[in-house]
Amino acid sequence: MIDFSGKRGLVLGVGNQRSIAWAVVERLHQQGAELGLTFLRDPKGRFEANVRKLGEQTNATLIAECDVASDESIEALIKQVDEQWGELDFLVHSLAYADTQDLSKPFSETLRDGFNKAMEISAYSLLPLAKGVIPMMRKRGGGSIVSMSFIGSTLAVPNYNVMGPAKAALESCTRYLARELGPENIRINSLSPGAIRTLSSAGIKDISEMIRVAGEHSAMKRTATQAEVANTAAFLLSDAASGITGQLIYVDCGYSIMAN
Ligand SMILES: NC(=O)c1ccc[n+]([C@@H]2O[C@H](COP(=O)([O-])OP(=O)(O)OC[C@H]3O[C@@H](n4cnc5c(N)ncnc54)[C@H](O)[C@@H]3O)[C@@H](O)[C@H]2O)c1
Repeated sequence: MIDFSGKRGLVLGVGNQRSIAWAVVERLHQQGAELGLTFLRDPKGRFEANVRKLGEQTNATLIAECDVASDESIEALIKQVDEQWGELDFLVHSLAYADTQDLSKPFSETLRDGFNKAMEISAYSLLPLAKGVIPMMRKRGGGSIVSMSFIGSTLAVPNYNVMGPAKAALESCTRYLARELGPENIRINSLSPGAIRTLSSAGIKDISEMIRVAGEHSAMKRTATQAEVANTAAFLLSDAASGITGQLIYVDCGYSIMAN
């Protein structure tokens, strides 16, 4: 097990117990990291309640609201992290959004607003978050950032629609950020998990069938779990991955390498 004692990091994207980010937080806590979590405010306050519960379980020392669709909200988060911690070792970006209607109607009918919203939340948000944490990582002599992509970035996956271009942009942003931040020893990589049943994936039409087919067609004849994604995230966030940046790593039980 990689030792995260003395390491401090921020995880965005915990919604509920099925969230990939939830598994990442649990894993990093087990390995000794000090954690900060964010939540997106929803009308019933469910995300906040879930994040506070997980925060308690994992002794999180920072819990903050953040809506990455808003520059002000990102700036407020960065200010809070800077005032409270001042220094940071890692950041996890495990969030995405597309309007439900854009995940079911024909892709060519995607409206400008829906396209922009998916891009801004799922890809652009990585930039201001990275910009915000760079000074805090600099103080630590470097850092590591991980985001979550999906194979729909390169393959035309049924019903994934507008999220495909958004994930392609996210992966490209990862490479450009890696180039910019490399000289400062700040690494940034993307994971590409296979299909997993979560709140977000439930919004994709016929997701159950997609998961079944992915399992059937993967090298290992199953789909990966949140915990397996979390293990790889922990590796990339740790010094064990000190020579890896700008990469996309599939955690999909070998689905992406199969010819059929
Ligand atoms: N579940 C899958 O099959 C799968 C596969 C590959 C990649 N991913 C990616 O993993 C990441 C996490 O998704 P998940 O499957 O754990 O689902 P999830 O629904 O548990 O997590 C998505 C999170 O995004 C957050 N979010 C949405 N809009 C936001 C905003 N404006 N500001 C801040 N947070 C916002 C939600 O609050 C939620 O916590 C996403 O990037 C997703 O695309 C998921």
